[in-house]
Amino acid sequence: MTPELLEAGAKARAEYEQRRAAAGPAGLMRLREPDFRHGVALYLDDVTVSFDGFKALNALSLNIDVGELRCIIGPNGAGKTTMMDCITGKTRPDAGKLSFGSTIDLLRLTEPEIAQIGIGRKFQKPTVYEQLSVFENLELALKADRRVRASLFSRLGGAQLDRIGEILGLIHLKDEAQRTAGLLSHGQKQWLEIGMLLMQDPKLLLLDEPVAGMTDEETERTAELFLSLEGKHSLVVVEHDMKFVEQLTQGRKKVTVLHEGSVLAEGLLSEVQANEKVVEVYLGR
Ligand SMILES: Nc1ncnc2c1ncn2[C@@H]1O[C@H](COP(=O)(O)OP(=O)(O)O)[C@@H](O)[C@H]1O
Ligand SMILES: [Mg+2]
Repeated sequence: MTPELLEAGAKARAEYEQRRAAAGPAGLMRLREPDFRHGVALYLDDVTVSFDGFKALNALSLNIDVGELRCIIGPNGAGKTTMMDCITGKTRPDAGKLSFGSTIDLLRLTEPEIAQIGIGRKFQKPTVYEQLSVFENLELALKADRRVRASLFSRLGGAQLDRIGEILGLIHLKDEAQRTAGLLSHGQKQWLEIGMLLMQDPKLLLLDEPVAGMTDEETERTAELFLSLEGKHSLVVVEHDMKFVEQLTQGRKKVTVLHEGSVLAEGLLSEVQANEKVVEVYLGR
């Protein structure tokens, strides 16, 4: 190779690195800021998912507004978890469109990229680091956020400590900060995992059966927590516990009933509870 070629190669490489740095952390060139000016956080349009010819989602269309708290109910097998799998990039639909805000095509992003642009997901089973303290779990979640750019071994700054303190308050674990996470109750572990999601300040939070296995008191507190997040985040909550759904909707919010992979009904909880089709497939059991 001639010196000229070597030099040209080095120059091209430097230019590329520069462009990459300007675009933000590695590989984020495709990750523009989402556009929420239309007031919609998430669009699902005609989304279909088939497993061996069986349609788990069947032309599902659904919008979630910015700051909205939407409960999704429906019988087992209705496609609720599959819907979340599609939003987070775990499952690729056969057809349809999914968009985050009005500009970001979720089908073009990988699962980690989707998490990174601000979609957080809580699975049914809590997944916290059992051997670490509550505080350390939140600290790790903060440092996993690439925007923070902290090394795992660097000391936390004042603003970061404040943020952890704020989240500890929100999830009712201030007094348990130094406790080993493995010793928490099931409900407290669920809250800790929600806290870990919140450390990354997601725009949209997906919560799949978050109060399953919780005591009545923990369930009530979880509803209070979600209500305090409403407005700052969009929340999609899948739940079977009707008392919990009632507490979340406060008699004025829309709920969506899913059945056989599509929307069967949408409206106030009182309206869908009076809907004959809904009673037949779900509530009347
Ligand atoms: N990976 C998979 N392979 C085959 N079938 C699946 C898969 N995931 C889900 N299903 C089927 O799709 C349907 C919807 O499942 P799911 O989304 O888990 O429903 P829900 O969460 O509403 O109970 C069910 O009939 C389920 O058996
Ligand atoms: Mg499910």
